[in-house]
Amino acid sequence: MPFNNKSLIKGTYFPPGDKSISHRILILAGQATGKSEITNLLQGEDVMNTLKAMKLLGVQIKRKKGKYIIFGIPPGGLFEPRKVIDLGNSGTGIRLLSGLISSNNIKVTLVGDASLSKRPMKRVTEHLTKIGAKIELKKNLFPPIKLKGTGKAVPLSFNIIIPSAQIKSAIMLSALNTNGKVKIKEFKSTRDHTENMLYSMGYNIKVRENLLHRFIEMKNDKELKSIKYDVPGDPSSAAFFISAACLKPGSKLIVKNLLFNNTRIGFIKTLKNMGGNINIINRRKIHNELVADIKIEQKNNLRSTTLKSEDIPLQIDEIPILSIVASFADGLTIFKGLKELTVKESNRLELIHQNLKKIGVKSVVKKYDLHIFGDRNLKRGAAVIRHNDDHRILMSFFIANMICKKNNIIKDKSCVKTSYPTFFRHISLFSN
Ligand code: S3P
Repeated sequence: MPFNNKSLIKGTYFPPGDKSISHRILILAGQATGKSEITNLLQGEDVMNTLKAMKLLGVQIKRKKGKYIIFGIPPGGLFEPRKVIDLGNSGTGIRLLSGLISSNNIKVTLVGDASLSKRPMKRVTEHLTKIGAKIELKKNLFPPIKLKGTGKAVPLSFNIIIPSAQIKSAIMLSALNTNGKVKIKEFKSTRDHTENMLYSMGYNIKVRENLLHRFIEMKNDKELKSIKYDVPGDPSSAAFFISAACLKPGSKLIVKNLLFNNTRIGFIKTLKNMGGNINIINRRKIHNELVADIKIEQKNNLRSTTLKSEDIPLQIDEIPILSIVASFADGLTIFKGLKELTVKESNRLELIHQNLKKIGVKSVVKKYDLHIFGDRNLKRGAAVIRHNDDHRILMSFFIANMICKKNNIIKDKSCVKTSYPTFFRHISLFSN
């Protein structure tokens, strides 16, 4: 059956492996002593580019019956690659690897695709130059990143003002080969998988927080132990199905093996505030990460909500799909403080606004706040969606077919491969 406004979401669903964790486990297992084994690694192009990059930096990675076997190189021992490293579309890949490389005495050039080549890198490299790395950017802002790392990184204290786990993690990865204490202060909490993984691998890391800040302290006086890691399901990918199930009364979905880290499930709290009927049925902790199964059994239509700017980092990647949900929820939904959304794989704030208008939803952008005037009536649809090859914009406006009178036209759907290559297979399996 085609996917349209008659569709409901049903079944038992295992989301693909988490993208953020997949990048980090490749990098950290690549720095561990001994042999690590990774299962359920995301097969998306972004993660595969990080895998290729680690190989070019000298790490041995083999695939055996769906498992990845990694033989790490201890911190400081990376090899100078024989060619430029291409991270494709991935901001996480290029920023985290810049951090890792910056404290190794090697020269590396990191490049990306057209979208990545327009994304701001100074937010990361301004920190890395302070430890002694020499870095050149295009127009002093964008990739290619030409990096000459240092074998004698200076241990420093960093303040992270922009709420970004990528900036934080880049600094943390540079600390792996820095002698002395590295201190990091975050002004807004962001995803903490690098911290959790380092703990699980026996590294010397301390994290504490008060009402205003999070503090991280790292010291490289303990080796990084190898690990067996089963990557839990990606909440940012599952968000398309979880949101779609909440959107349409009558839907019934069970989601298994979902990463349930507090810094990633802001959108589940938002959906619940809007009247989403979501129950957690099995919560457990694996390698310092919470994992759960959840059940959605939607009986009623959703209502509007307001998200404050401090709520945004905890659901930054889910704002596009939440904008579709808000379009069908009764009343005015307001997302406040979406500045970071303008520097993602595309200017997502702008594309959400334009595409909502095209499908017949009224929305207003006030500086960095987005106002969506929702109601449960079907929208016009039949619009040609402009996605600029941004995977999350594409998937969100594909889900919008559930709330439109006529299906929208989406040309070239190939960019889903960056984060969710099995998206359309899952649509056909879990919608009816
Ligand atoms: C990510 C951090 C976020 C997020 C991205 C993945 C990560 O980016 O949008 O999809 O894995 O660290 P920022 O750190 O730029 O907010």
